[in-house]
Amino acid sequence: MTGGVRSTFLKILVLGSAAGGGFPQWNCNCGNCAGLRRGTIAASARTQSSIALSENGQDWLLVNASPDILVQLRANPALQPARAVRDSGICAVLLMDAQIDHVTGLLMLRERTAPLPLYATAQVFGDLSDGLPLLRVLGAYCGVERHVLGEGAVTLAPLAETLLAVVALVSKAPPYSPHREAPRPGDNIGLVILNRTNGRRAFYAPGLGVPTDDVARVMGASDVLLVDGTFWSEDEMIVQGLSAKTAAMMGHLPQSGPGGMIELLDRMPAARKILIHINNSNPILREDAPQRALLARHGIEVAWDGMEIDL
Ligand code: MLT
Ligand code: MN
Ligand code: ZN
Repeated sequence: MTGGVRSTFLKILVLGSAAGGGFPQWNCNCGNCAGLRRGTIAASARTQSSIALSENGQDWLLVNASPDILVQLRANPALQPARAVRDSGICAVLLMDAQIDHVTGLLMLRERTAPLPLYATAQVFGDLSDGLPLLRVLGAYCGVERHVLGEGAVTLAPLAETLLAVVALVSKAPPYSPHREAPRPGDNIGLVILNRTNGRRAFYAPGLGVPTDDVARVMGASDVLLVDGTFWSEDEMIVQGLSAKTAAMMGHLPQSGPGGMIELLDRMPAARKILIHINNSNPILREDAPQRALLARHGIEVAWDGMEIDL
């Protein structure tokens, strides 16, 4: 049989587009959080960081398990296809790091009827066995089936036509990790998502601190970029009196300024350039902000909860 490549889309569904804390954050009264609560700014609430991937719209790979997962599942009925008395569309979970905003939702999946297939690097499995021993805790409930992600590309059960490859990122291990100040490759990863039916590639990296040559090469070969949108500026939390931490101290590359994310994205030919994992302090959350208009002039989009991308 001959024939061209069958083009079937891989669906990327944004479940949560905010960084740790979400938007608004429970204890935050910054201009954005207070403005959203009062209804005085043009912005939408966002839950914490997670995406889901599906080829058939029924069986999903969850990428990150957000503390907001139960709300995200209610908002996205496609992930609850209800084929049996106890059932979920979530077939497996893959983690980008061991940060609270990406892993604590695992506890909410404990009622599963079978062990949860979990994909992560050895470093992330280490932090989740040790600093934050979720795996031991889950062992008393559904348990997890560990799959260690290494260098080679993999195909996972629910996504037969998709190739996933890990890219080690320079960012930060979680604050609770003994490796926080001496990060190792594998503490944070980016994910290359290749749709083998049409050859299109996405790159997902919600925590990207330093755009190394490797990362720039991978980004340059991608059709869709879903990358770290945490902060607009290096000192944004300090200036607003929210925290003493800079973006770099937290392992995030800010959008503005020399060497920032906007400059990096300008060099990329990708058709879609999307910022994700947006902190509640970031001015780009306001739809009428000048920073938002600047992004638009650079062809950069801002992810929102419920956004769907066909790859
Ligand atoms: C981060 O991405 O820097 C962390 O998730 C922040 C946090 O949750 O404390
Ligand atoms: Mn985070
Ligand atoms: Zn805030």
